This record gives sequence, structure tokens and C-alpha cells, in this order.
Amino acid sequence: MQRILVTGGAGFIGCNFVHFIMVHTRLHVTVLDKLTYAGTIDSLSGLPSGRFEFVQGDICDAALVDSLTPTVDAVVHFAAESHNDNSLEDPRPFLDTNLGGTFTLIEAARKHGTRFHHISTDEVYGDLALEDPDRFTESSAYRPTSPYSATKAGSDLLVRAWVRSFGLQATISNCSNNYGPYQHVEKFIPRQITNILDGVRPRLYGQGRNVRDWIHVADHSSAVLKILEAGRIGETYLIGADGERSNREVVEMLLEIAGKSRDAYDLVHDRPGHDLRYAIDSSKLRRELGWMPGYRDFDAGLSDTMQWYRDNEDWWRPQKAATESKYAGQGH
Ligand code: NAD
Ligand code: DAU
Repeated sequence: MQRILVTGGAGFIGCNFVHFIMVHTRLHVTVLDKLTYAGTIDSLSGLPSGRFEFVQGDICDAALVDSLTPTVDAVVHFAAESHNDNSLEDPRPFLDTNLGGTFTLIEAARKHGTRFHHISTDEVYGDLALEDPDRFTESSAYRPTSPYSATKAGSDLLVRAWVRSFGLQATISNCSNNYGPYQHVEKFIPRQITNILDGVRPRLYGQGRNVRDWIHVADHSSAVLKILEAGRIGETYLIGADGERSNREVVEMLLEIAGKSRDAYDLVHDRPGHDLRYAIDSSKLRRELGWMPGYRDFDAGLSDTMQWYRDNEDWWRPQKAATESKYAGQGH
């Protein structure tokens, strides 16, 4: 494998993956990204021009996708509408990009016989009770609950059907909540970090009891590379780093890191249909491919992430006011 196409490479996880690939492989990367509100070319600055190319475009554009696909050995598909709160306000772009865009990409990959890796989420499995000893595995039932997770579930099923019906050379990964640099300020951790930096109290939905299973974005990248190189075609791999924390715990940790009182946050009205808990059992990936997460200390990971936002205000500041005004309209 020498050349890959990375869709959504100007977004949070996609850009971290591209930076990771540049350091850890000799692969040439073409990024295809529409540059929606969630993507910025600034996240890809400083990459070696001889190994990197950027194409601004829509994954729903069949002619464009069909022209790019035969130029690469594999497609790694990150592009999506990714934010649950947005999907509750306006589901349409989620159907277009997450379902229509994935359909366009797998049609091109099947036509050209191109290796395909589909990036998905643990949210396709719905949620777990707080006290449930079980975690999601590759055989958990699909029970998506939001417009976002329903479209991601649908996209997974499209890929599975194309593997079975057309022999698409595809793998799928479903990962838990990522944190780290370059994450849009609409998401939980960067929203709270940048609020704290602005002297604004963090906002917890409901009672802050909901649990997410946090993984550093660099560990997501290393897992995707392993699957791309050694994953069995047609298989799904769950990616997680045993990072379960309640939202309240995370906010308390961030406040402490910033030297503020641990209770200096506000409770705001809950997200409709808010999933209670996600938890990943990633033993298949660890056993079959020998993958292990590198970031084991969540406290240190949060500290580094807060420092990144301190050091990179130019990157996030342009998005902050519009994001907060959207949240104000939602009562969040
Ligand atoms: P993001 O919203 O930060 O970035 C999405 C990127 O896709 C942006 O650069 C955007 O411009 C681009 N894009 C959107 N629509 C497009 C279109 N029609 N054509 C081309 N480009 C388009 O998202 P993220 O958090 O980096 O998530 C990336 C992928 O990982 C998604 O598939 C998401 O479902 C999945 N995922 C995310 C998480 C998480 O914690 N954020 C966890 C598991 C899985
Ligand atoms: O589990 C993987 C998923 O994680 C990905 O598929 C999604 O793309 C990604 O956005 C994320 O979804 P969540 O809905 O879990 O992430 P979000 O950052 O929106 O919220 C995390 C938790 O924090 C959730 O329980 C809602 C809560 N929250 C969020 C915000 C923005 C708050 O309590 N306050 C907030 O201000």
C-alpha cells in the first residue's frame, strides 16, 4: 500500500490520523473534505507537500469520488456529520453525508476494487445502564437512538451489505468518545476547556451522570492503521481504551487542572433522548492485531489537551462565539 484517500481529513479525528500517518508511515495521503463548519485546512498545516494533497469536495459528488478512487490503494472514510445535538436540530445533512456519502464512496471502491476502511462509532449500539456489567462487543445488537447514530448505523450496514453482496474489500471500526487536539469547540471536552479559559462556568446536561468511554485520538489513529494493515476483510473491530467516566467527573477534573473549584459548573437542561452510558470491550482488536492504547493516564491526557487549547487560541477562537450562540438557542 502506497497511497491512501482520507475523507474528512480536515476534521478532528481525520486530521489527527493524517498527522499520525505522516510520522509513522511513508504513505502518500490525499484528503477529500468539503470543509463544512467542522473542518478547517488550518488543522493540516505543516505537512510535507510531497506526500500530501488536499482536495476540497463533497463525498456525495459521484464524479469526483470516482475520479479520485483509482488513484489510491485504500480509502479511509472519516467524513461525516458528527454532532448529536446538531442532528436533533436538523437531521437532513446527516442523511445526505452519512448515508448518501458512504453509498457514493463504496460504489466507487467496488467499481475500482479499492480497499475500504469505514470509521464508525459505538453509538450504533445504543446505550447501557449505569450499573450494567456488560460492555459493547462486535456482536452487540444495533440500537441507535439519535438521528446521528441512526445514520452511522445505516452506513455500517451499507458497508456490510457491499462486502457480502459485491465482495467489497472492507473493514469497519466502531470507536468510543475521542479527545485531544483539533476537536471542534461544540464537543463536550473542548467546550468546557474553552469556557474555563474564557472564565465561563462549564455546562453539564441533566445531572451530569451520563458516562462516556474516553480514548485519546492518537490511540484511535494507531488502531485504524493496524486494522488497515492487518484487519481481516469483512470484519468489525471495536476500539476503546477502558476510559469510562461520568460527565460530572470529567468537568471536575478539568476545573481542578485549571486551578478552579471542582463545583464551579452549572447544570442545564438535558439532551432529548440522551444516551446514558457507552462502554467498549476492545479485546478482539487487542487479541487479533496486538493493538494497545498508549495513553493510559486520562488526567495527563486532559492536562495536555487543555494546554493545547491554551496554546492554540487562534485555531479555536473563530468558532467559539457562533457555537455558544447556537447552544444558547437550544437552552444549553
Ligand atoms: P468532525 O465533525 O470533527 O469532522 C468531520 C469532517 O468531515 C469535517 O472536516 C467536515 O468538513 C467533513 N465533511 C462533512 N461532510 C462532508 C461531506 N459531505 N463531504 C466531505 N467532507 C465532509 O468529526 P470527527 O469527530 O472527526 O469524526 C470523524 C469520524 O469518526 C466520523 O465518521 C464519526 O462518526 C466518527 N467517530 C467520532 C468519534 C468522536 O468521538 N468524535 C468517535 C467515534 C467515531
Ligand atoms: O461515542 C462516540 C461519539 O462521541 C461519536 O460518535 C460522536 O461523533 C461524538 O460527537 C461523541 O458523541 P457524544 O454525544 O457522546 O459527544 P458530545 O461531545 O456531544 O457529548 C459528550 C457528553 O457530554 C454527552 O453525554 C453530552 C454531554 N455534554 C455535552 C456538551 C456539549 C454536556 O454535558 N455538556 C455539554 O456542553
